[in-house]
Amino acid sequence: MNKNILSDFGREVLEGLSEKPKRLSSKWFYDEKGDKLFVEIMNMPEYYLTDCEFEILKDQGQEILESFGFDRNQDFDLFELGAGDGTKTLQLLIKLRKYKFTYRPIDISKHSIQTLTERVNKEISEVGVEGIQGEYFNVLGALKTNKPKVILFMGSNIGNLLDDRANDFLKQLSVTMNAGDKLMLGVDLKKSKSVIYPAYNDEQGITARFNLNLLHRINSELGGNFNIEEFEHAPEYNGETGHAYSYLKSLRRQSVRIDGVDMEFNFDEGEKIFMEVSRKYDSESLATITKETGLTCVRKFYDSRGYFCDAVFEKSA
Ligand code: TRP
Repeated sequence: MNKNILSDFGREVLEGLSEKPKRLSSKWFYDEKGDKLFVEIMNMPEYYLTDCEFEILKDQGQEILESFGFDRNQDFDLFELGAGDGTKTLQLLIKLRKYKFTYRPIDISKHSIQTLTERVNKEISEVGVEGIQGEYFNVLGALKTNKPKVILFMGSNIGNLLDDRANDFLKQLSVTMNAGDKLMLGVDLKKSKSVIYPAYNDEQGITARFNLNLLHRINSELGGNFNIEEFEHAPEYNGETGHAYSYLKSLRRQSVRIDGVDMEFNFDEGEKIFMEVSRKYDSESLATITKETGLTCVRKFYDSRGYFCDAVFEKSA
């Protein structure tokens, strides 16, 4: 099949499943079903990340605003990468309502942007919102304005990139910033496996459904014949390095045909498809991903359990 006529989704699925080890990109997780499951993940008791960051924004919102260093008359842009449903950000927007700024959430999911915009309009109507739908890497151009800005990149979403790519991304992000602009980066911290592992392997199987949903999506959008029951969600956590990996494992030897990319893929019993990494940081790894970016850490905010950190960086002159 001519690769050029495939959709981006088809092309990436074809490439990823042709590699060894096989992989699928997590950016395709977020169709309408995926969005819903992701909101469920964020709300489940095991998924401590959201609670921790929510607590930081709620209890230390004022200090966070002060660390941004704006006065009330200065007009600025508040960008947010991967805004999702914005529940956490609303905490901050409420405290910012007296300031002059425009909230510019960016998300790969059109549905999320719509819901979030409606929510802000309804709950904090003083705040102007202009959502942008797109992938982080493709929308960086939209961040290049002359207005002072704050970029929120929370939820440990940076941790879904391996360190080299995270560092590259932060370098690119820094290029869109002018001296004095701020970046608030939310990062999950290294800690005991007994806390981290259940967040990626919950009792109810929501995370499993979230990952497996991508196979459903391949079936319905690309004409695949994955038998979903023959695959299993198989997360791993390496406590030494701080990497949580998410895999789908083939429960038997089988072959899967995807008509839309005109290809058949063979799986061994126990063969894994790599889905996503979720990096847990310490000060060393945080320094690694921010090195040579022109960004200097000005404040760090922690939740009461010390599980999570929101670090504010300033672009140097
Ligand atoms: N970035 C968050 C994390 O790494 C949220 C997230 C992204 C996530 N993909 C996920 C959570 C898949 C669970 C499963 O935790």
